[in-house]
Formats: sequence, C-alpha cells, structure tokens
Amino acid sequence: MPKTVEQLPVLELPWDNVMAGELPTMLAQMATEQGPIFQVPVDDADEANIFMVGPEANRFVLHTHREHFSHDKGWTPIIGDDFGHGLLNMDDPEHARHRKMWNPAFTSACMEAYVPLMQAVIADRARRWPERGVVDMQDESRQITFGVAATVLAGFHSGVEVDRLRELFYTMLHGFDEARDNWDSYAARAAAARGELVRTLLQLIARRRAMPLADSPRDVLSVIVHARDEDGEPLTDVQVLAHLNILLVAGHETTTTLGGWVLYRLATQPKLWQRVQAEVARGTQEDGTITAETLRGLRLLDMVIRETGRLNSPVINVPRGVVSPFEFGGYQIPAGRQVRLGLAASHRLPSVWREPERFDPERFAPPREEDKRQPYALVTFGGGPRVCIGINFAQIEVKALVAHVIQHYDLATASDQMPIHTGWWTAEVPGGIPMRVTGRTTVGDEREVARP
Ligand code: HEM
Repeated sequence: MPKTVEQLPVLELPWDNVMAGELPTMLAQMATEQGPIFQVPVDDADEANIFMVGPEANRFVLHTHREHFSHDKGWTPIIGDDFGHGLLNMDDPEHARHRKMWNPAFTSACMEAYVPLMQAVIADRARRWPERGVVDMQDESRQITFGVAATVLAGFHSGVEVDRLRELFYTMLHGFDEARDNWDSYAARAAAARGELVRTLLQLIARRRAMPLADSPRDVLSVIVHARDEDGEPLTDVQVLAHLNILLVAGHETTTTLGGWVLYRLATQPKLWQRVQAEVARGTQEDGTITAETLRGLRLLDMVIRETGRLNSPVINVPRGVVSPFEFGGYQIPAGRQVRLGLAASHRLPSVWREPERFDPERFAPPREEDKRQPYALVTFGGGPRVCIGINFAQIEVKALVAHVIQHYDLATASDQMPIHTGWWTAEVPGGIPMRVTGRTTVGDEREVARP
C-alpha cells in the first residue's frame, strides 16, 4: 500500500545554506538518506515543495511518466505571463506541434552558420579586457551570451540595437531597484519596457515575413517565420514573439553561467588550461579561424564543459505541476501538487559519482564514463523528448568562447574566494567571477606556449 503525500519525509532547509550555494548537496544528502522523494516546507507557501532527486526520478518525470506533469503549470507561475507561452512553458499537443517547427533551427548543421556570428560577438567583447585589467567574467559572459542570442536568434546587428534590447529585457527580468522603486513605479517601468520590446520584435518579424527565405539572414528567426506545421500553417506573429522571448530568457542566463564557470575552472587549473590550449591549437587553421566542426570535435574541452555543467549546473531545479495522480518511491502524489525535480542535486549523488564534490573532467573519459552507468544521471540540459532545444547551441557557444579566450589571453583569478554558485531555479553567481586578463603577445604559436 503506497503511503500518502503527508507521510513524505521532511527536509528543513535553512535559507542561509541555500544562499551559500549548498542546496544541491543538501538535497542529494536527503535523497541518499531518505529516498528519492521528500518534501521541503517553504515559508511563504501553503504547501510544502515536493522534491524528486536522482536518475530514476529524472527518468520518471522527464520520460516514462511525463504525461502526469505539466510544464505550463510548473514554469508559468515562475516566469510569469509577461513573456507569453514559448516551448519551455507549453504542454502537448500544442508543444509537440511547435517543437517540430523549431527543431530545424537548432540542428548541428545550423551551427555552421551561427558559429561565425558567435565568434564575432565574442571577439568584439573580449578585445577590451586587457586594458581593463580585472573584469567580472560572469558579467562579461552575460554580455556575450545576450549579444549572441540577440544576433543569432533574432537577427539584431548593430551594437546600439542589442544594447537597447538588453536594457528592455533586464528591466523586465531584474529591473526592480530597491533604492528608487516602489511596486507601482516598477510595474510602470516594466510595462513600458514590455511595450517597446513587443513593438520592436513585431516590426522585426514583419520585415522577415516580407523577405523570401533565400534572401533572409541565416538566423533562427528566418527559419521560424517561414516554418509550416503539418497542415501548412505558419506560426502567428504573437506566437513567434512569445517563443523569441522565452528563447532569450531560457537561453542566455544559463549559457552565461556555464561560460563564466568554465573559464574560471580552466584559469584555476593551469595543467588543464595547457591541455585544452594545445587541443584548441591543433584544431586552429593557419589564419587563426576555428570551424564549428572542429569545435564539436574538441573532446577534452567537451569533458571540461560537461564536468562544469555537472558541478555548477546552470539550472538547479525544474518545476512541474502534477496533472494526474502518480506513485513513485512508495508514495502516492495527488493531482494539483507542485513537484521540483532536483537536477543539480542529482549531480551530487555519491551513489552515481565518485567524489561528487570534486571537479574532475576525467570522470567522463573511458573506462570510467560515470555518466553512462545509469540513464538520466547527467541532466544539465534536462532529458527525454523535452531536452533543452538549445543544447547544441549552448555547447558550441561555450566552446567558441573558450577557444577564443585560450588563443588570445591569459586569465588568473582576481580573488582568494571561490565564486558562490547559488539559486533555486536557475543559478546565480552573486559576487561575480573577478578575473585578471592579460593579452598574449604572440597569437598563433599556442602549440609551444607554456603557461606559468
Ligand atoms: C548552458 C546552457 C543551457 C542550459 C544548462 C539549459 C538547460 C535547460 C534545461 C534543464 C531544460 C529543461 C527544462 C525542463 O525540463 O523544464 C531546458 C529547456 C529549454 N531550453 Fe535550455 N539550457 C541552456 C541553453 C539554452 C539555449 C542557448 C536555448 C535557446 C537558444 C535554450 C532554450 C530552451 C528551451 C526553449 C527549452 C524548452 C524546451 C522544450 O520544453 O521543448 N536553452 N534548458
């Protein structure tokens, strides 16, 4: 006889520990001691959060029993209604129809066209680092990933346009300023930002619709305004708009965190830096360029990125609304409850990962291949049919970032403190990642260059 939801083991989470970045480890410890499903009381909520943690929980929620869970009822209360409904917060059958139309814009083949655009944004931003001396690499990564998203997804090209778009988004996402705002003044500023954003994006969509596909820029927006569903119907302007908003939201903060942390990890491990530098140098052409295909083949860098995504997961937990009752781990959970799937906590389970708190990219190399011992062990990008649509995009963008930096600059951490990786849904790095940047005198002879 399954137990009831009220009988779930309870984990009390001191908020200070969450703020200090200990949430994934605490959830993993609870799952190890009490099993993969438990509850966490939250101060301002009527009902405790139900957490599910571990490879079996991931497989259950993301794949085998996904019909019990709503993305809309999970994500929309968190991201709000302002951005509308995009892939992240839609349910089937509407989601399946829309995802089919978007998939062609995110294949590996598309990355061939996107990578040069990404590289241009990266080079342009990085150019000013040496004269600045110390930069916050988290913020720099954010500026780059937003620039890439605005350029490659939505086709913005001038720096002024991208800066304005960034300002509008940040006003909507993080614009509340305690020093000058009360709730009404913030709501008015956010509404004005939203109005301008909607007008700008709708104009852009209209211009693209008027252009034949063959003459359009090779970016994500071009693919989507010309896509047709099985009945030959295009997406409406309002649908394209909502998708673009959600792509910008889902795609840039997450890639920011991964990019910032990968650079930090490499800068603090000189031997690893050298090995990655040599790998990048081997793949670099005489004229200094590096292609999408070469980036894809950088195996060591791939393991570094996977290990960083495991230990510094950009998405900490994902929410789901329960739409029909289910049984898991000996407990019966009724419809109407909210479940949180602890992705980052899954990455800290000692039953899956050897010394889970240690940064060790070699765990992904044969014969260890710890991620392959159980399906759904590594879920940095989610999994199953709703795996992140931007997985190829994000991985190649971070590779392009590292390849550029490692070819042109030396990095050293500018603080004795390890950055703090915290957050409840997506990760934040509150103190940033201060790093000292020096330009390399000779570019193109990385095969011989040794780091001090
Ligand atoms: C390091 C970077 C990234 C990480 C770690 C990441 C992580 C994730 C995760 C965990 C999910 C699953 C959410 C769930 O199951 O509820 C997801 C979904 C999604 N991601 Fe990403 N993401 C990243 C980059 C991107 C980029 C670059 C884009 C777009 C260009 C993107 C767009 C999306 C969308 C649209 C979904 C919803 C897909 C669906 O449900 O069909 N993400 N992402």
